[in-house]
Amino acid sequence: MRLTLHTGFETKTIISFGDSAFSELNELLLPSDETIFLLTDKVIREACFNILVEKVPRLGQAVILEIPSGEKNKTLFHAQRLWNELLTHGASRRSFLVNLGGGVVTDTGGFVASTYKRGIPCIHIPTTLLGMVDAAIGGKTAVNLGPVKNQIGSFYSPAAIIVHPVFLKTLDAEEMRSGFGEVLKTALIGDARLWTRLLSVNLNDLFRTGSGTMAVEEIISECVAIKCRYVENDFLDKHEREILNFGHTIGHALESLSIERGKNELSHGHAVAMGMIVETQLSVSNAGLDPDIRDSIVSKILNEFRYIPMKQDDRTLLQEFMRHDKKAKNHEQIFSLIRSPGEPVRGIRCSLQEIEAAFDYYQSLG
Ligand SMILES: NC(=O)c1ccc[n+]([C@@H]2O[C@H](COP(=O)([O-])OP(=O)(O)OC[C@H]3O[C@@H](n4cnc5c(N)ncnc54)[C@H](O)[C@@H]3O)[C@@H](O)[C@H]2O)c1
Repeated sequence: MRLTLHTGFETKTIISFGDSAFSELNELLLPSDETIFLLTDKVIREACFNILVEKVPRLGQAVILEIPSGEKNKTLFHAQRLWNELLTHGASRRSFLVNLGGGVVTDTGGFVASTYKRGIPCIHIPTTLLGMVDAAIGGKTAVNLGPVKNQIGSFYSPAAIIVHPVFLKTLDAEEMRSGFGEVLKTALIGDARLWTRLLSVNLNDLFRTGSGTMAVEEIISECVAIKCRYVENDFLDKHEREILNFGHTIGHALESLSIERGKNELSHGHAVAMGMIVETQLSVSNAGLDPDIRDSIVSKILNEFRYIPMKQDDRTLLQEFMRHDKKAKNHEQIFSLIRSPGEPVRGIRCSLQEIEAAFDYYQSLG
């Protein structure tokens, strides 16, 4: 299977799925006599590199660049180190940077590729579920600035994205769960039918057998198609693409809080899942979502994700982080919410009091 993502510029991204994706990558890289660079982290290198080289032998000659694993390393410090390494190895504007990893690697590698010599071609090979359904798709690159997520970045289309579930075999259950957070979000904003089908997907079975009532491959390709729909209409995130932020305004603040407290233990998808609970309540108060549907959404999320307790003083810090959000206005915050599964609404203004009431609802679930 193959999709083409048109971004409205002179660039497009080929997204290839399954075994044929490796053949396409071979075709793309073989004619290049430039040095190829491959960015990854140590864990992913051990888990995925050999599988990749067996399928794409040209990558066996790549210069390997590494960043340490984990969100706290999505930094300008590492970006600068990588620019230096590219320069030292003589990378030219035609050198490919292949990013093999989860969202931390593809966000950082995408940013480095977009800025080194004003842009060199890059290819994303996501190795996490979250990367496959979300982080690698759509051309957003970023590094964090201190504890505040994604403050420095660019919009930059990779030449290709290679999606193959073989890499998920070594991913631990928590990371699969994290990806499932974005899967649930994508269904809620994009497709009521997919949401209904996901209600009967038992995530633990999916981990164990690689197949449930829906195969992982099917879930991934449906989510990618939904994301592409929003990205194609609004690559630069000026209007419609905001819909993809459902759960993220609160979710990002929770992630920042976790980094600030030095815990760094809350995965992105888990933070988004908790964020979706708060924003589902806001959808009831501000977007007309039926409370019974809220209850079924919240119950599905809490069946899959451990509830993260929120203390009273966390709320002050969360509001502080939310002020950094690109959608913050003076005394209100702009949210993307849902009127019902598959029916998203964007640009919904919520006052501080309404947000506090949604936090009260969240705390009442603990
Ligand atoms: N650019 C975007 O549009 C976008 C969208 C969503 C999320 N993101 C970003 O993505 C990041 C989160 O990405 P993530 O959830 O993929 O986490 P991650 O990149 O931190 O990877 C999670 C962990 O899994 C390990 N790992 C990755 N692949 C593996 C494999 N196949 N086998 C074994 N271990 C493996 C990594 O070493 C890491 O420790 C966040 O920084 C988030 O902001 C970006």
